[in-house]
Amino acid sequence: MQRLRRTSALRRLVAETTLSVDDLVAPLFVREAIDSPEPISSLPGVFQHTLGSVVVEARRLVGLGVPALILFGVPERKDATGSGASDPDGIVQRALSAIRSAVGGEIVVMADLCLDEYTDHGHCGLVRRDGRVDNDATLSRYAEVALAQAAAGAEVVAPSGMMDGQVAAIRGALDGAGYSETAILAYAAKYASALYGPFREAVAVSIADGGDRRGYQQDPRNARESLLEVSLDVAEGADMVMVKPALAYLDVISAVSRAVPVPVGAYHVSGEYAMVKAAAERGWIDGAAVALEHLGAIKRAGASFILTYFAAEVAEVIGDR
Ligand code: PBG
Repeated sequence: MQRLRRTSALRRLVAETTLSVDDLVAPLFVREAIDSPEPISSLPGVFQHTLGSVVVEARRLVGLGVPALILFGVPERKDATGSGASDPDGIVQRALSAIRSAVGGEIVVMADLCLDEYTDHGHCGLVRRDGRVDNDATLSRYAEVALAQAAAGAEVVAPSGMMDGQVAAIRGALDGAGYSETAILAYAAKYASALYGPFREAVAVSIADGGDRRGYQQDPRNARESLLEVSLDVAEGADMVMVKPALAYLDVISAVSRAVPVPVGAYHVSGEYAMVKAAAERGWIDGAAVALEHLGAIKRAGASFILTYFAAEVAEVIGDR
């Protein structure tokens, strides 16, 4: 077996998986009403950007050859319906148009489509009087958000709220308003994971009354329902699907990539990034090497592309263009 492992050129020749800059999607946070970028303590190297600095960061990603970014907004005010999410003047909408006018065409501009960053209760949808999320009432809100994001220049909208029927509602709204070219990346198999902790700091979300998302996100113990989730989303019009988180769900990525004929993204989430950074800061692991090994494993499992906070850092290391 060792004959083909002798030299780096031999190993490259027979490698089954290659991680390329083209596989990376960079998540970016833009926050309303701040004057300078704010570091996120649980995501070292990641910032809440201003409207100005988010454009600078988008340009840097273009320079590094990263093909896509996905935007998350942190509004100044939150309310029960998450009205900031669909406000034409809302922070994400302003950032989308600023990025599109600066570097549109050079990088794919995606927008996360959810309400949790904008609701005062922190849930991904509208909440009924009994405290439960109202799936069907939420769909019309998602349609409004999709239209606002498309109007502001999002080329891809990425619904992450795990409401049943969200892709159909969004596709119908987009088509009905003349945005038939706007694509949908569905967070299709999204688990109720403890690995989203640092993200909630990044977007200043806490769920009311010690609540959680187990009523609408998937149970980590289940794999088979992911196949139903993705096939429903594809049938509803998803152009691409996503599995999230990534490393603890490589079996799901593998099964989904074999089951559906659309590109499959994987979200290497905030907790996955933070664990590598924390261990590397202590000198316990070589952070860059572990990042490459992790992202390579996600590709090996079958992901077409990876959303990761390592995007810029890894692009600098592998820089293959
Ligand atoms: C919901 C959303 C979440 C993430 C992306 N979109 C949080 C959640 O579902 O609670 C998490 C991403 C990460 O942890 O990196 N808008």
